[in-house]
Amino acid sequence: MATQHTPESAQVLLLAAADHNLHVLPNLLRQHTPNVADPETLRTPLHNAIASLEKVEPQPPSAEKLKDAETTIRLLLENGAIWNTLDKEHETPGCIAYRLGYEHLYEMMVDAGVRCEMILNAIGGWEQIDSDAEEEGEAEGTVVVENDGEADDIPGLVSIDSSIGSIKNSDKMDEDGVIVDAPEADSEKNATKEKKSHPEDIAAEISNPDSTLSASEVLEYNATTETPSYLSSTLTFTPHSLLDSNRNAVMMDWESSVMDLTASLLLPEENTTNRTVLNVGFGMGIVDKAFEKGKPTRHIIAEAHPDVLKKLREDGWYDMPHVTILEGKWQDTLPIFMLENPDVTLGAIYFDTFGESYDQLKQFFSEYVVGLLDPEVGRFGFFHGLGADRRICYDVYTKVVEFDLLECGLDTNWVEVDLPELKTEKWEDVKRKYFNLDTYRLPICTFGA
Ligand SMILES: C[S@@+](CC[C@H](N)C(=O)[O-])C[C@H]1O[C@@H](n2cnc3c(N)ncnc32)[C@H](O)[C@@H]1O
Repeated sequence: MATQHTPESAQVLLLAAADHNLHVLPNLLRQHTPNVADPETLRTPLHNAIASLEKVEPQPPSAEKLKDAETTIRLLLENGAIWNTLDKEHETPGCIAYRLGYEHLYEMMVDAGVRCEMILNAIGGWEQIDSDAEEEGEAEGTVVVENDGEADDIPGLVSIDSSIGSIKNSDKMDEDGVIVDAPEADSEKNATKEKKSHPEDIAAEISNPDSTLSASEVLEYNATTETPSYLSSTLTFTPHSLLDSNRNAVMMDWESSVMDLTASLLLPEENTTNRTVLNVGFGMGIVDKAFEKGKPTRHIIAEAHPDVLKKLREDGWYDMPHVTILEGKWQDTLPIFMLENPDVTLGAIYFDTFGESYDQLKQFFSEYVVGLLDPEVGRFGFFHGLGADRRICYDVYTKVVEFDLLECGLDTNWVEVDLPELKTEKWEDVKRKYFNLDTYRLPICTFGA
């Protein structure tokens, strides 16, 4: 039966959350979705439960008050409160907790985000944001969430349409998220998911020693999968960046320190037994040049964009005897590479593509890293730009990807890299800043003992 909401009852809920009134909240939440927002501030009950702790200054809140806040937050989350809704100041509840210095409450919000994203990933809730969305008048990186489908009908209330989109991969494209729909949302998406699951079957078939799949069969299958529009756009190499036709930064040279450190950690001198490397995504060639300093015995580069391949040719990479270039999308070239090199294991694997979703990264490590990395000395890394627009998203996705890697038997060691130079005008020529934090987390993944 539909629940009756009134603007007044929603306001009562918002106030009760701000007061941490645990006497009335359980009952209110039986009648009301926790996902209502104040029309002025756009704050939800979750925002209020945290933001109200600010008011009690200059006295810090008592231990009892903090405990009540914590219980309120837990209650709201258990009742379906959305972790990443933005208020008018563009803050999530977790952002407020961080700003006010409530580390424990911030961690609660991070954990809520991790749970939510893991569930969405498991049920296939990922969808690459439509890069035309902005032009079509849709809000940037937003989701429309009407948990009970009724909020729109409430006069004076706003529906929650300002949650930040979920977190993307190392994608430096237009928008800062990937749309997350309500779980039950649409069957069309499930159909897409089903289509995408075919490469998994192919990978399973390839790892099968009795596989009868031929390279042309793999190619033929992959030719039917979609090619992102990025691959047909014209790229521009500037002295400090690689830009697509919309001035999105595909790669920027501020990442050089990160790339140099990555290459030296993935292919350390101590690894004397397997000095082979695979890099997926050439970009400006920064990481590949860094790998070369470690004198790899074999260096495989997977690159899909014709303009980048042209640059590789001009710069002489094709003439280097130990270098193999896999031309095309890794989704197409790696299955064939594995089929043709069934016994190869690699000392280092790096992944840094553009315009791909977290799904793609996950598919890469769960199918190809697992199949190609040297189990003894091999190290895998990727550009961790997941959710790098905002601290809480970065923290959430650091945990999500670590869980997913662990599920594949890969332990992750995070190396923190300070990025002081990012405070300067590095972003002037590009459409949007894709990394918004002072510290980069550099992942080094190995098979656990
Ligand atoms: C961020 S750049 C890589 C930067 C590189 N790490 C460096 O140090 O310069 C991403 C690269 O991945 C390539 N790319 C995107 N999707 C790809 C795919 N599916 N397969 C292979 N390469 C891809 C892009 O064309 C681009 O050259």
